[in-house]
Amino acid sequence: MEVKKANGVIDWLDQRIAIKKVIEVLATKYWVPKNINFLWAMGVILLTLFTLLVVSGFFLLMYYKPDTKLAFDSVNDTIMREVAFGWLWRHIHAVAASMVFLIIYIHMFVAVYYGSYKRGREVIWIGGMLLFVVFSAEAFSGYMLPWGQMSFWAAAVITNLPSAIPGIGPDLVEWVRGNFVIADSTLTRFFMLHVCLLPIVILMLIALHFYTLRVPHVNNENGEEIDFEAEAKKYEEGKKKEAKVISFWPDFLSKDIFVVSVFMMLFFYLVCYHFNFAMDPINFEPANNMKTPAHIYPEWYFLWSYEVLRGFFFSADVGLIAFGIAQVAFLFLPWLDRSPIVAPAHKRPLFMIWFWVLILDLVVLTIFGKLPPEGINNQIGLVAAVGFLVWVFVALPVVTIMERKK
Ligand code: HEM
Repeated sequence: MEVKKANGVIDWLDQRIAIKKVIEVLATKYWVPKNINFLWAMGVILLTLFTLLVVSGFFLLMYYKPDTKLAFDSVNDTIMREVAFGWLWRHIHAVAASMVFLIIYIHMFVAVYYGSYKRGREVIWIGGMLLFVVFSAEAFSGYMLPWGQMSFWAAAVITNLPSAIPGIGPDLVEWVRGNFVIADSTLTRFFMLHVCLLPIVILMLIALHFYTLRVPHVNNENGEEIDFEAEAKKYEEGKKKEAKVISFWPDFLSKDIFVVSVFMMLFFYLVCYHFNFAMDPINFEPANNMKTPAHIYPEWYFLWSYEVLRGFFFSADVGLIAFGIAQVAFLFLPWLDRSPIVAPAHKRPLFMIWFWVLILDLVVLTIFGKLPPEGINNQIGLVAAVGFLVWVFVALPVVTIMERKK
């Protein structure tokens, strides 16, 4: 290999690690369709939020103590009152955790609306769903760390779920908790998951998600099949107006940065003035295993699946099976959708109805997931929970087969 005197840092790196090629592959010659709107900026917002979670998490880690005797005070006293700007990092972490789910749901349902999970994009979708599942585990394990009342009782309810599995159930619960009851061993293992194992898995899954976008490319507003090579050639020849594609950098990302900036204004407004929505008041009471809170419920983003679990109020076992199925239901979307059409829902009348009824059902489940399970709430919960499963597993194939036949 011949190394010449470099005429700059880029040239120096290029001679050693072919940095220009890397920049081309990752940015300047990575082609994105032109006809997409701000909803396609959600992925980069998610990346920004994940970065904020990691950075704020590092600051919190400097003072947090993963010990049942110390955890509550280390968060509510040391971090919130004693350490300079500790409150700010905590609010950033809590608000980002809540917002990340809002944006994940928007990102997911944008993909459903535009049919971005099919015709070659199945693996992008699967990677995304894995991210959703691991993010859920990350949020659940993080919620346990302040060791408040809701941390403790949510942990008690969720780690008890495997007990319904015949035979091995009780042993499994003990294995998950590391004790017969929720104890110090439970807190420390969930701490390990939250700050170490799960973030590593998330990073690997984000890399996979980005890689899987490369071959089928990002979908567009009309579901149009674009010949990326031909369009990229036009762009490179200088016919940028005619070309149906733009480069990831500088074109796409510069617009994304604008959307991310607007989002960040809203984000820091919430962090400074309305952080309470991201924290449950009951969790400002230390964990007490002798005092069960009147209602135990998760954060807003888990309410819909929690309600599927509770909806089957007459049988805990049926509820558990339904909950397990609901958690992964969307994974099967590319195969439950039997129509080859990739187009926005407003151009697919039957699918449009299916889509909005699904959203409505998820909203009902979310609302009733927070209400106490008594009286009419039980019946509505049951209808919405059964409705969800039927809508995804039966109505979607029926609707899309009808669409195909048309
Ligand atoms: C932290 C988590 C995630 C990150 C950082 C992320 C990032 C991205 C980015 C940057 C894109 C390309 C541009 C865009 O459409 O926004 C994208 C596309 C996509 N993502 Fe994600 N994503 C995440 C989670 C998910 C989840 C949970 C799902 C679904 C279950 C998902 C499904 C998809 C699909 C189907 C596309 C292709 C969209 C299209 O072709 O139009 N992603 N993601």
